[in-house]
Amino acid sequence: MTEMNKKMLDEAKRVREFAYAPYSNFAVGAAVLGGSGEVYGGCNVENASFSVTNCAECTAIYNAISAGEKELIALAVVAEGEAPVTPCGACRQILAEFHIQYILMANLAGDVKEMTLEELLPGAFSAENIN
Ligand code: THU
Repeated sequence: MTEMNKKMLDEAKRVREFAYAPYSNFAVGAAVLGGSGEVYGGCNVENASFSVTNCAECTAIYNAISAGEKELIALAVVAEGEAPVTPCGACRQILAEFHIQYILMANLAGDVKEMTLEELLPGAFSAENIN
């Protein structure tokens, strides 16, 4: 594993501890690598009105954007489970919005899987489809 992948996974695991998941008890952590080289973490934040829950990937991406990053390179996501956690459909669309090409998925047991954006969401709807 590259140093950067390890750094992203470590950050995703660190912020996973902050997950606000009283309804599902499923804690997720994510981390995004920005074009500046900085890594930004994010956890899932649930709500009693379940549908307004924020996924960890989304929180991490919005943290990076809010810090002024203009280019996002890669994202790591981690949760506890038999296999590496996989981003939900809505998160895949958000990954596509910011052209995040490399997605690293992991579980706490240390299983890691890497996929490209095109593999996760082939034929994504994008700004080019409007007009
Ligand atoms: N969740 C994430 O944060 N990321 C994923 O990729 C899958 C699901 C969260 C949403 C909710 O808080 C909990 O996991 C259970 O669905």
